[in-house]
Amino acid sequence: MTTHRLTDRLGGLAFGGDYNPEQWDAATWKEDDELMRRAGVNLATVGVFSWALLEPEEGRYAFDWLDAHLDRLHAAGVAVDLATPTASPPPWFTLTHPDALPVTPEGVRLTHGSRDTYCLAAPAYREAARRIAAALAERYADHPAVAMWHVHNEYATPCHCEHTAAAFRSWLLERHGSLDALNEAWGTAFWSQRYGSWEQVQPPRATQWHGNPGRSVDFSRFCSDLALAAYREQRDAIRAHSDLPVTTNFMLPAYQSLDLWAFGREVDLVAVDHYPCAPGVDAAADTAFGADRARSFAGGRPWLLMEQGTNTVYAGDRTLAKEPGDILRHSLGHIARGSEGALFFQWRQSRAGAEFFHSALVPHAGADSRVFREAAATGTAVGRLAELAGSTVRARAAVLHDSDAWWAMDVDGLPSRELDYHGSLRRAHRALWDARVTTDFAHPEQDLSRYRLVLAPALFLLSDAGAANLRAYVEGGGTLLVQPFSGAVDERVQARLGGYPAAPLREALGIRVEEYRPLPADAELALSDGSRARSWSESLRAEGAETVAAYTDGMLAGLPALTRHAFGAGHGWYLSTRLDDASYAALVAALAAATGLGPDVPGLPAAVESVTRRAEDGRRWHVLINHGSDPVALPGPAHDLLTDGPLAELPPGGCAVLRAR
Ligand code: GAL
Repeated sequence: MTTHRLTDRLGGLAFGGDYNPEQWDAATWKEDDELMRRAGVNLATVGVFSWALLEPEEGRYAFDWLDAHLDRLHAAGVAVDLATPTASPPPWFTLTHPDALPVTPEGVRLTHGSRDTYCLAAPAYREAARRIAAALAERYADHPAVAMWHVHNEYATPCHCEHTAAAFRSWLLERHGSLDALNEAWGTAFWSQRYGSWEQVQPPRATQWHGNPGRSVDFSRFCSDLALAAYREQRDAIRAHSDLPVTTNFMLPAYQSLDLWAFGREVDLVAVDHYPCAPGVDAAADTAFGADRARSFAGGRPWLLMEQGTNTVYAGDRTLAKEPGDILRHSLGHIARGSEGALFFQWRQSRAGAEFFHSALVPHAGADSRVFREAAATGTAVGRLAELAGSTVRARAAVLHDSDAWWAMDVDGLPSRELDYHGSLRRAHRALWDARVTTDFAHPEQDLSRYRLVLAPALFLLSDAGAANLRAYVEGGGTLLVQPFSGAVDERVQARLGGYPAAPLREALGIRVEEYRPLPADAELALSDGSRARSWSESLRAEGAETVAAYTDGMLAGLPALTRHAFGAGHGWYLSTRLDDASYAALVAALAAATGLGPDVPGLPAAVESVTRRAEDGRRWHVLINHGSDPVALPGPAHDLLTDGPLAELPPGGCAVLRAR
């Protein structure tokens, strides 16, 4: 493990981003030096997509050009996050090692022409990746510009080829111990799927109808473990030469291909990429959603926003521009939640290539532009936050998040697609964000005793250990809200028998679900407390719990919809339907209030987001973002680090970082 802290090396928080000088000429490099100085850039990620230049043909490395850029950046006072280029193998690699190209479930072997064209199980790819990581580390370990190592880019690429099949079989043998155990775990007695030899076992590939759920989740677990093994191989090759921090950047999108809890334990600094999917206040909520996840995967330690866009909001079929002020607001949204800086993809907007309209700190229009001016002002602001380095955030509420549960909710054959994992997770976090409660994500098997309130929005798959842990949490004094379709299957994706959700969690909730009753797409339900619901209902029996709201329609009329159970020193709540946004937000806000949770900085209007960063020595800083359209008077005079002066009022859209007394 490294002993170096990135922020010690930088003398403050990081500001900058991906820098691809190979796309430009000497005159532009000169301008880059000057503009980086003006924007307060202190960290550049170099080499992420440079494999073809670094190794123009197999085994022949060409480092001179990179030497020159690292020397230049060092002279300009910019440290380097040096990347291994393994997310984009060059064309020669494809032609030399066609077996290392990824194959889709339909059996189509992809080829080069884009990026991520590799199979993580192919020996030729793994060897080439390890070799170039080692060569870079050997050459640059002592280069004064290098401050951190950046392995690969956003591990995510699945493959269904024969190399993958062989690796999957070994992984399955390790996990299940025998073919009999595998047959049992996957329930292959159904539809005559019994495997008589290991050669018969395949990764999920195109087939006639529903695939096997157990295989599907095991394949997701395997792909994540394979990516982790590939990461470790490069990391260890680097560590043989350098003790600087090593990381890889996680993509935080609406689908999940990695177990980020496991990755979080293997990187020296968790690094994430984040691109909001809606404009305005939804982008701010999405920023918090990404940042809180990142901090949680980091185990509460500081982490780093590795990529964001200056002017990029991925909204369905179009990329929207950001509003004036968003560059600072979004950067501070991440920093408030523990990021050790704000980095962007990328420094200069490319003139050509696949992402030539993706935004950058220096846009096509050049430095005489709103975007560059705002980016530079943000760099100046981040430069004033050095004293926050190393401080962290304390949350007393958590949303449970488990990649196994996510993967399980993606399998074929579930009764409804409306209770989607990511959407449920997002809604739970958003309800707490709207109540201005700072929130962690937590794994269902981890110690939860520091949290007063825990929401379990989509724990479809729940292990025995998780069920026991949640029961113990409630018994010990916690308040837990379990939402519909949770605890329905075990680790093998086999249904829980005797009633849902999984025992012994059921004891803490004091209920037993007998029947899932998904609703037609346009059906709406009214509950006895006036809240409204759709998508889903359940027939459940109270076994000790009291009914807080009952169904009022159909066969479920008069039966419990929302229950509360006093258990041990705590309370187990169960919600058996999908409330509409307003009703759900009201329920979560009421639970937050009942457990004594509120904004980190009390006494401000609801439009102001506030998060407190705390240093080990007791110093604290309040990061405030005003999402409203009215100015907000601050209680008492406070020193604002952004303006380095006293601040009495926060303008609409304004931000502050107050030194707490
Ligand atoms: C990231 C990726 C970058 C760039 C960016 C565009 O996910 O790491 O290389 O593609 O997206 O949004």
